[in-house]
Amino acid sequence: MKKNPKNIILIGFMGAGKSSLGKKIARRMNLPFVDVDIEIENRIGLSITDIFTNYGEDHFRALEKRFIQNLDSDSRSVIAVGGGLPCHKNNMAILLKLGAVFYLKRSAKELLNRLSQSKEKRPLIAELSESELVEFITQKLDEREVFYNKANYILDRTQQTHDWIISRIKEEEHQS
Ligand code: S3P
Repeated sequence: MKKNPKNIILIGFMGAGKSSLGKKIARRMNLPFVDVDIEIENRIGLSITDIFTNYGEDHFRALEKRFIQNLDSDSRSVIAVGGGLPCHKNNMAILLKLGAVFYLKRSAKELLNRLSQSKEKRPLIAELSESELVEFITQKLDEREVFYNKANYILDRTQQTHDWIISRIKEEEHQS
């Protein structure tokens, strides 16, 4: 008998491309797309930056946890989570129960190139100079990979396509 279809969860550092890839997979598979940051912004009525400024990072982490705790492991959506979510409050264990977790792995150098163009909406890096950003990415990526590496699939750059991920999901369904 086939197992219930699983959620498809994308994790990775800021700037890894979780949201754009997630939208493509959702479109191709005709599934709902959930961007946890956007859901939190809509629920609270504030941008991520304003949540950090007004209430602090700890409050944001509590909102992230509450959000994923309320997701349904029996439904199927494509879910992109913020870069820090898997690394706080035992959230990685929750994600692994919710579905198949794909880590979009990128090198610190690639992330730097991508993030230097898009810092403004990300409160943890918005104010950093180029050299501070290099240091932040190198250090945080090192700390965070301990969590990211628990994903069901660790994708190098060539595997980070909707076709590759959809094929893995279909294979899993065939095996179950
Ligand atoms: C964060 C990543 C952001 C957002 C918040 C904190 C992080 O999401 O959740 O700014 O701690 O890495 P993206 O990974 O989508 O940028």
